[in-house]
Amino acid sequence: MRRLFPVTDETAARDSGGGPGMEGADREWALEELAEAYAYPSSASPDASGRAGAAEPRPWLRANMVSTLDGAAQHDGRSQPISSAADMRIFGTLRALADAVVVGAETVRQEGYRPARAREDFAALREAAGQGPAPAIAVVSASLDLDFSLPLFTSPLVPTLVLTGAAAAPDRIAAAEKAGAQVVIAGDGMGVDPARAVRELAERGLYRLLTEGGPRLLGQLVAAGVLDELCLTVSPMLTAGDAQRIAGGPPVAVPRRFELTSLLEEAGFLFSRYRRT
Ligand SMILES: NC(=O)c1ccc[n+]([C@@H]2O[C@H](COP(=O)([O-])OP(=O)(O)OC[C@H]3O[C@@H](n4cnc5c(N)ncnc54)[C@H](OP(=O)(O)O)[C@@H]3O)[C@@H](O)[C@H]2O)c1
Repeated sequence: MRRLFPVTDETAARDSGGGPGMEGADREWALEELAEAYAYPSSASPDASGRAGAAEPRPWLRANMVSTLDGAAQHDGRSQPISSAADMRIFGTLRALADAVVVGAETVRQEGYRPARAREDFAALREAAGQGPAPAIAVVSASLDLDFSLPLFTSPLVPTLVLTGAAAAPDRIAAAEKAGAQVVIAGDGMGVDPARAVRELAERGLYRLLTEGGPRLLGQLVAAGVLDELCLTVSPMLTAGDAQRIAGGPPVAVPRRFELTSLLEEAGFLFSRYRRT
């Protein structure tokens, strides 16, 4: 993996064919390096000293998505066929940095979501950041049509959260709670209000937020103006067909502007990081 932007000595070394001492310009990055490259802003981190008067952290919501060259966000209903080993390393690193992973119910259903694992490689980093062994998974659902007998709900390391609206069916809420999930009401009607969801998570001490989509959920986060950052993998593949894009739903009135903050490359896959301007 090599960094293409911001341009560094490593980029220049690669462009000029490398040279003495530059052999490491294109190599597999250690997980610590990836974690450093993708660190959350310090404003989203609780003050580890716990001193009185420390500024209250501000939530930071980043999305991690993969897209083909022609904009497909899935193939045969899953994102794995358009991903790569390096993409999965970054996927795992982003999870390891997060307090909570926010995900739409359809992605949970289609991708067979399991609880987040405690990764030995990141244990010290999480402890130093004041985080538990693994992020909480926060499933967004209006219908609560979820299989609550799955390990995602019955045996996670940290309880799975289920974000839903106040009008959700009481028997489904009861089923979620019976399985061990924590139900969070984050909307007045059937659905979840994205800004309220972010607030509810922050009130539970979850500030470093990662969403893994899917497209219907991400479209709403974009429209509500709560997305701070997009980590987008561009996969060097073409699929044609009618796959969803990474964000769907009604268009926003004015395109939201983001700025490029980082670009990595490996085996033709581009790993970009964009921040809201
Ligand atoms: N390329 C990528 O990076 C990537 C990432 C993730 C997923 N995917 C792919 O995307 C597909 C699934 O995505 P999707 O867009 O169809 O679904 P999704 O966004 O994962 O989930 C949609 C569901 O989430 C719930 N939901 C969304 N907004 C809500 C709100 N405001 N309030 C309450 N509930 C809300 C609803 O669940 P209920 O129906 O339960 O009410 C809705 O049906 C899969 O094929 C997956 O492989 C790709």
